[in-house]
Amino acid sequence: MSNGPQAGWPGLWAAALQIVALRRAGQVGGAWARPLHGLDESGGELFALYEPLVCRAPQSPPWVIAHLGQSLDGFIATHNGDSRFVTGSQDLDHMHRLRALCDAVIVGAGTAAIDDPLLTTRRVPGTNPTRVVLDPMQRVPLAARVLQDRAAPTLWLCDERCHDPAVAARVAARVLAVPGLTAADGVFDAQVVRRVLVAQGLRVLFVEGGGVTVSRFLAQGLLDRLHVALAPVLIGEGRRGVRLPASSTMADCLRPGGRIVRLGDDVLWDFDLSASPGRSEGTGRAVDVRRTM
Ligand SMILES: NC(=O)c1ccc[n+]([C@@H]2O[C@H](COP(=O)([O-])OP(=O)(O)OC[C@H]3O[C@@H](n4cnc5c(N)ncnc54)[C@H](OP(=O)(O)O)[C@@H]3O)[C@@H](O)[C@H]2O)c1
Repeated sequence: MSNGPQAGWPGLWAAALQIVALRRAGQVGGAWARPLHGLDESGGELFALYEPLVCRAPQSPPWVIAHLGQSLDGFIATHNGDSRFVTGSQDLDHMHRLRALCDAVIVGAGTAAIDDPLLTTRRVPGTNPTRVVLDPMQRVPLAARVLQDRAAPTLWLCDERCHDPAVAARVAARVLAVPGLTAADGVFDAQVVRRVLVAQGLRVLFVEGGGVTVSRFLAQGLLDRLHVALAPVLIGEGRRGVRLPASSTMADCLRPGGRIVRLGDDVLWDFDLSASPGRSEGTGRAVDVRRTM
């Protein structure tokens, strides 16, 4: 929280978790009415980041949020992949809150292989979401903690053509061999990912990285919200965050509406993409992100 723990926060957070637990169980949690007392302005601004996630009804359309913590020069990790840590503790807490409020947290194969993340909610009260490793070629090491530790339900999404049943038998995660996960351009198809997860009852999705994965969801118009936490650090050269096809003029560039929330030394941009021109409910044109990476 911007100015440390506030009196009203624990009760508000507990109420939000209760509604999310009902949604995850497929039950309607009732209308969300925020009790404002006990939070000052900064606490209210922080909590407003979570309200769109709390307000999702069990059968409402799928909803996708992504987060990246990046340097002032636009990198999410050093050139050899070190990202511990780009942003500060308040942004880490924020990411764990997003995990607690979403049905599923998704990471790309690069992140799973390099960071070996747990993807649990250990920094905040809340139940772990389903963990999703998006790995079309089934290249993530079998020893990856997320594939072995049974800390939460875990799905390992691979393209049907690259799936090896013998490999699947050696992990605790459930393997989903998905037909058409890899699009004609050789990159995963985010619409297929969303469709597969919705079929598993997972409708509120958190894309936690890395840059390639978030960029793909963004380029296909599937993000409702994008959180970019800017840290006061310069990396010089490293792994890029968002990458989209080049624009010729500034007028052509995506300039989503957003607001900022201070998270300690970091500044979090909360972009609402739900009304963006490129936004897709499932029929949008996929652009070639890979050629720009
Ligand atoms: N600061 C943050 O917010 C944040 C968040 C998450 C991750 N990260 C950092 O971002 C980096 C990863 O992001 P990313 O954009 O490169 O990838 P990503 O989006 O996590 O995953 C997709 C990419 O990973 C590659 N890949 C597949 N299997 C791999 C393997 N076994 N080892 C390494 N790469 C593999 C894929 O290459 P192919 O297309 O060739 O298969 C694809 O380009 C890591 O350094 C991680 O620490 C930072």
